[in-house]
Amino acid sequence: MPLHNEGGPAAAPAAPDPAAEPDVLEQLMFPPASLDPYPLYERLRAEHPVYRSRFGAYLVSRYDDVAHVLKHHELFPGVPEEEMARMFPQGVGHQAYEVLVTSLVGSNPPKHTRLRGLVGSEFTARRVGGLRGGIEELADRLVDGLAERLRSGETVDLHRAVSVPMPLHVMSDLLGVPHAERERLAVLVPAMMNVVDPAARPEAVAAADAAFHELGAFFDELVAQRRRAPADDLISALVSVHDGDADRLGPGELRTLLFTLWSAGFETTATGIDNAVVALTREPGHRRWLAAGEKEALAFVDETLRHDPSVQVAPGIRVAAEDVELSGTKIPAGSHVRLMLGAASRDPEVYPEPDRFDPARTGTVPLSFGSGIHYCLGAGLSRLEMSVLLPRLHRALPGLVAAGPPGRRRSVPLRDFESLMVRLEK
Ligand code: HEM
Repeated sequence: MPLHNEGGPAAAPAAPDPAAEPDVLEQLMFPPASLDPYPLYERLRAEHPVYRSRFGAYLVSRYDDVAHVLKHHELFPGVPEEEMARMFPQGVGHQAYEVLVTSLVGSNPPKHTRLRGLVGSEFTARRVGGLRGGIEELADRLVDGLAERLRSGETVDLHRAVSVPMPLHVMSDLLGVPHAERERLAVLVPAMMNVVDPAARPEAVAAADAAFHELGAFFDELVAQRRRAPADDLISALVSVHDGDADRLGPGELRTLLFTLWSAGFETTATGIDNAVVALTREPGHRRWLAAGEKEALAFVDETLRHDPSVQVAPGIRVAAEDVELSGTKIPAGSHVRLMLGAASRDPEVYPEPDRFDPARTGTVPLSFGSGIHYCLGAGLSRLEMSVLLPRLHRALPGLVAAGPPGRRRSVPLRDFESLMVRLEK
């Protein structure tokens, strides 16, 4: 997911006091804010709710403003493709770049409506509910494996043993990616992201190209196989649409969709699982939510995603279609707008005592999955995965404790994990 390196009208006001301290986006990339961004978000919401970053975008941090932007797509459409090329010149000409900037979240109606319509039906509540049996079996298998290792006295990295394999296998089953290839292909996605990292060195961009070619070659071969012998999976369904009507899914678009679906759901869901385990091990009192029933387990999941959202900055870069005012700050037409979901989710105006983890909260819907036309396609799927897995984890391992501080990887745009070491209480 890209950060900015250019954009917005030159005449727009600069961030307050830019020389006094590093830009907010820079601060978020280094300690202490990379380890705990919430104190910085608190200041941002209170002092500069619409902050003009030196990287070009306006950062919007109050819940009501973020919700307003998400819900008014006509006022804040996605950045046009040609402008993305200006923002990420290092990516232009690289195929990995094309895939990343022409993804679903970066596209506008009518293209977005057409593409979303093709895959949306696969992610309805009914279709996702049909995956429950397979998800339960997978969760049992992963929890059994973890329990065996922990009971033998081992300290285990839960991130690698459970949090990543869970969404990896669910998404692979849905798409139809064979078992033997899954782990190899999963690591290619982060490498592809280098192509929209303004700070990427030429070697990193070359690595993005290599990852793109490997994943692309794999998908091309799988598409050819499914064309010869269709199976009951999403790739076969998309191949049949593509071959039947190129106006609905054109050449190139099939590949981009496969890349998008393959990449969108792992780290986000894995981070949700990791954060839930952190909440459980920090405050064992929360465990009762996982012992009570399905509704309570979902409340626990939703509070995890509100309290520490996996996606801290919405991946879709918006542009103001006209002059607008948010929280008293004018955003001139043509400016880029980034939505600070992590800040919005702790806004005390809508969540009393926002830093407290409390699954009993009711009322305002969290924006952890976005809202409006780009609302997360996989929200139902990831909530199901988490709500199936976490009660099983708690039942099998009530004595699970942290074996050290969580190994955080980044804070923006994803607040994800490198590792999460756990052990059983002696
Ligand atoms: C806990 C897990 C997840 C979180 C927190 C999350 C978060 C988000 C957010 C915040 C957006 C909106 C982006 C924006 O408006 O700029 C989004 C969009 C999206 N998500 Fe997720 N996501 C998760 C899991 C998944 C999964 C499992 C999939 C796999 C299908 C997925 C696929 C997508 C897609 C395709 C979009 C773009 C939708 C569109 O533009 O119409 N996500 N997600």
